[in-house]
Amino acid sequence: MEFFIDTADVAEIRDLAATGLVDGVTTNPSLIAKSGRDILEVVREICELVDGPVSAEVAATDFETMLAEGRTLAALHRNVAVKVPLTVDGLKVCKALSDSGTRVNVTLCFSPAQALLAAKAGAAYISPFVGRLDDIGSDGMELVHDIVQVYSHYDFPTRVLVASVRGPAHVIEAARLGADVATVPPAVIRAMYAHPLTDKGLAAFLEDWRATGQTILRTKGEAA
Ligand code: E4P
Repeated sequence: MEFFIDTADVAEIRDLAATGLVDGVTTNPSLIAKSGRDILEVVREICELVDGPVSAEVAATDFETMLAEGRTLAALHRNVAVKVPLTVDGLKVCKALSDSGTRVNVTLCFSPAQALLAAKAGAAYISPFVGRLDDIGSDGMELVHDIVQVYSHYDFPTRVLVASVRGPAHVIEAARLGADVATVPPAVIRAMYAHPLTDKGLAAFLEDWRATGQTILRTKGEAA
């Protein structure tokens, strides 16, 4: 499973990219607004930090303007995947950009029918928003399950990118269902490292180690 980071915060991306576990980045208009930065500048900068797909979203809603925006974003860097909303015009843009070799991430997917249309439009990624479905009392993971199942019967180029992730449990469930990618907010990635028994066990190991008086790193000339 691949991990993308769901943020437009360059400092966070730089920090997490250093772990070597980051396969890509997703942004959206709200995340760009939160960063307080110019979209073209920030996307270019992210592309230099992470050698993987960086989703940058169009902001218009009509075909012509979305297509022009998508081309502008795609021209920024070879890593850019253009993000379009799951609307009729959004999928027309998806088809046009995909046909010309640009990767497209179709976002705001809330049903298997929408995911099927995106796949037929040549999307490189479909983004089901699990957290937002959970928020309204639906089951976001059921949608992921349905999309994975539907896609399994065909040879679509579309990868299932689980979005709107709220916690480590979403990531694990997405992996269990065979989703290709999860895009994870930085705080959730950090939470995935944590377990109280890890902290407790490490504290005990360190205490026992201190009692031995040993060191592993020796200066030159010191006998092993
Ligand atoms: C995905 O590409 C979106 O940017 C993101 O996952 C939306 O998540 P939210 O529902 O937490 O805003």
